Formats: sequence, structure tokens, C-alpha cells
Amino acid sequence: MGRFYVTTPIYYVNDAPHIGHAYTTVTADAMARWHRLLGDDTFFLTGTDEHGLKVQRAAEANGRTPLEQADTTSLRFRDAWDSLDVAYDQFIRTTEPRHHRSTQELLSRVRDNGYIYKGTYAGFYCVACEAYYNEDDLLPGNACPIHERAVEWLEEDNYFFKLSALENELTDWITSGGVFPDGKRNEALGIVKQGLEDVSITRTSISWGVQVPWDPAHVFYVWYDALINYATAVGFGSDEESFNLWWPSVHHIIGKDILRFHCVYWPAMLIAAGLQPPKQVQVHGFLLLGGKKLSKTGLTQIGPADLVADFGVDGFRYHFLRDVSFGPDSDFSYEAMVIRYNTDLANNLGNLLSRVVTVVDRKCGGIAPRPSADSPLAAVAAQSYAEAAEAWDRFQPSVALEATWRLVRETNAYLERNEPWKMEAGSPEVATVLGDALEVLRITAVMASPALTRASVSLWHAIGLDGSPADQRLPGAAVWGGYPGGAQLERGPALFPRIETAE
Ligand code: MSP
Repeated sequence: MGRFYVTTPIYYVNDAPHIGHAYTTVTADAMARWHRLLGDDTFFLTGTDEHGLKVQRAAEANGRTPLEQADTTSLRFRDAWDSLDVAYDQFIRTTEPRHHRSTQELLSRVRDNGYIYKGTYAGFYCVACEAYYNEDDLLPGNACPIHERAVEWLEEDNYFFKLSALENELTDWITSGGVFPDGKRNEALGIVKQGLEDVSITRTSISWGVQVPWDPAHVFYVWYDALINYATAVGFGSDEESFNLWWPSVHHIIGKDILRFHCVYWPAMLIAAGLQPPKQVQVHGFLLLGGKKLSKTGLTQIGPADLVADFGVDGFRYHFLRDVSFGPDSDFSYEAMVIRYNTDLANNLGNLLSRVVTVVDRKCGGIAPRPSADSPLAAVAAQSYAEAAEAWDRFQPSVALEATWRLVRETNAYLERNEPWKMEAGSPEVATVLGDALEVLRITAVMASPALTRASVSLWHAIGLDGSPADQRLPGAAVWGGYPGGAQLERGPALFPRIETAE
């Protein structure tokens, strides 16, 4: 049994959750669910990032105070995650007093260790990124390279963090396995190798933030309080025992847009505070909008509820986990989502269940037979489990689910070859084939449960099992032969009704 602490970025409360946020969050949720199946001590953190100019301006535009803006939008994130069956252990908000204390404590340690000094900063600032840019990195017309909007010139007295003094430590951390996948590790290393400049970490121009304890006219720049949420949540500054239990066994899942903050600034801050850098940062690419149906919409205008209405929670989760390879950018298309749903869920898994239950009904009087010890599917199941487990371990849900569905496909092929529907009712032959298929359904329900939070439970009950697949323990639950047989099975509604499209 191990210990697994996984986080999502904390999302800005200037605007509503969209499917880009949902992709990261569902991935983290599935990772946490897999580790719970393994019996690991698991802690899954998400939350909202509530300070900074961007939130302050969104509040002004909506005629609210920043805290009202934060309260309202933070709740929308929680509602969205509830609607996607995201089972976080804690939802942190950076406006909580414990987070202010922890930020002040961590950065005071950085200062006590000699890594913070006072200076003047002047530069181009993008409010949407909450970041300064070098002139060289801007697009024509002084536009931000990410948001393609004009940046602003800001000048202020503030405190600097001596990032430049930590190049060696950062190089060591990155090269010894701090950043995944490989391409993203090289990107992080490239940033450090280019040479690091000290960074400004406080502001006097705004007040919506965490106050600097040694100079109350300043607040910390939003990123330097935001990153610290990962330490606050597990007890930094309030419960050292808990903090020492969870830190540094943390895995941060983030999008590539915030790689610099998580793979350079954050480990550097921790090292400067005398703490361990995170165990791993897992960086994924961006979802881009392809396909026809949503082509007139921006990706950030698509809320999770829009897709859940058409595909259900399981269809939504399965699509993003199975179709998006963790790491590279990926085209999101509604059409591809329909195809994936119909192929893997309706045709492969859904059909397997309905076929098996129908034939058990007709040929075995509805009583579920037991699997055979020497089934040819036993080896397929073992192989599929081994590959899936290895892929989950590498944060590759799409590979893990592909390996899981290979078992489902092979079992459909096994039925086609043996044609139990043509066998003699009550014969040992028909019992063997159906018992084997039921065993595959049991194993699949467990292995797919991190993705299919609801259908895995329906499947479990449909094959006559009590409790829930999420309560099983791996690897034991994937070992061939666990299906007890003997239950009275009943034909029920389709697990995944096919989605018919106009074309
Ligand atoms: N508040 C900061 C993070 C602070 S973490 C200490 C922030 N918030 S955000 O609301 O802008 O969320 C950014 C994250 O949302 C990305 O890193 C990524 O996880 C997710 N995504 C936002 N748009 C996305 C896509 N189009 N595609 C995939 N993920 C996307 O940055």
C-alpha cells in the first residue's frame, strides 16, 4: 500500500467552468479512483484561485465585491464537479484564513533563508495570465502570446524572489524525474537552461490578495499565494503532522499553460523555504476545438453540462479519459465523441452485457454460471490488467482504457466463435462460455470504475453482485475466477442506449 496525493490546478473564479477545466479535473479524479482501488492512502485536492487582478476586474464588471464574485463562482465549480461525479477529498479556496496564514509562513521562511529582497519592477503585464512578459515574447502590437490581447505597462516597488540562485537545484529535480511526460520535462529543462531571472512576488497596486507579513502595504502576487494551496490543504502552517505525512508525495496535474509556474517557480519556492519539491508534475496538452457541430463555439464556452445532457456522466468521462492522450494537444470534436460512445460503450460493453444476460436467461434459466479455471480468456484478462495497471501508473488513462476494452472486444469475439445462443440449453458447454463472459464483465466493472462511475455499478448489479466495484481491491479483484455464479440474472435496460445522429 502506498500514499498518493493528487491535485488539479486551482481554477480562477473570474469565469465559469468549461470542458478544459473538466478534462484536468476528471483525469485527476480517475487517477485518485484508481489508487483507491489499489488500496493506497489517497488524497485528492481541487479548489479555486480567488485573488489577483483578473478576479478583481471580473468582480467590478459584474458589480460585485471580489469576495462575492469568488463565492458565486467557486460554487459553480463545485456544482460542476458534483455533476461529473468528481469525488475530491478537499476543495480549497485561497480566500480561507488558513491559506493566508500558510502563505505568510512559507514565504517568511523563504525570506528568512535569504531568498527575498526589495527592488523596483517595470514591465509588460498580461492581466489574463497574471504574468509579466519580456518584450521579445510579445506578439506584434505588444499582445500577449497566449491571449492575443494587448498587455499593460506596469511599474512598481516590490519584493523579488532570488530564482536565479536555484538553477542547479531545479536542474537536479527536473532531470531526476520531477516532470512528466518526457516532452514536457525537456520544456521545463529548457526554461532553466536559458537562464533564470529573479521574479517579482509582491504588488502594491492591488489589495485583493494575501498581505505580506513584513510589509503590510504589499500583497503577494496571486501566483505566489496560489501555488501554496497545495501545501495549505494538507496542513502546512496548521497541522505539521499531517503535512509531513502527505508532503512531498504529491502529484500535480496541470495544463501546459502553467508549466513554468509549476515546474520552475513552485519547486524553487519550496527549496528556498527548506522544504522538499513536489514528487511529480504531470503536464497535459490543450484541448482544441475540431469537428463541425461546435465549430462556431469557443472551447471555453462549452460547459460540462452541455455534453452531459447528450452523453451522460459516464459518456463524458469516458470520452475525455479514453480519447485524449495525456501529454500532446488534442482535437475535441462532438462527432468523435458520438463515435467513441457508440463503439466502445453501446456496442462493445453494453452489447456484451445484454447478450450474456439474454443467453443466460434463455439457456440457463436465468441462473448465472461460474467461470472455468482454464478459460482462454484468463490470459487475456491478466494481460489486459497488467497493461492497464502500468498505464495508470504512468498517468496514461487513454492507454489503460484501451487495454481494458481489449478484454471486452476479445470476449465479444469469443462469444461469436462459440455461439452460446446456438448451444443446448443447460449443457456444460453453454455454462462455460457464459460463466467466462460474466467473469470478464466482473473484472471490467472494477477496471473501468475510475472512468464509468455509474455504469460500472449498474453492470455490477446486472451480473448479480452486491456492493460496488469501487469497493474492490486490486490486484486481487482482477484475478481470474472471482465471479461466484449462482445469482438469478434479470434482463434490464440497455447500459448505454445508442446515440443516433441526424446524419
Ligand atoms: N489559477 C491558475 C492555476 C493556479 S494553480 C496553483 C489557472 N487557472 S485557470 O482557471 O486558468 O485554469 C487553467 C487550467 O485549466 C489549465 O492548466 C488546464 O488544467 C485547464 N485548462 C484550461 N483550458 C484548457 C484547455 N483548452 N484544454 C485543456 N486544459 C485546459 O491557470
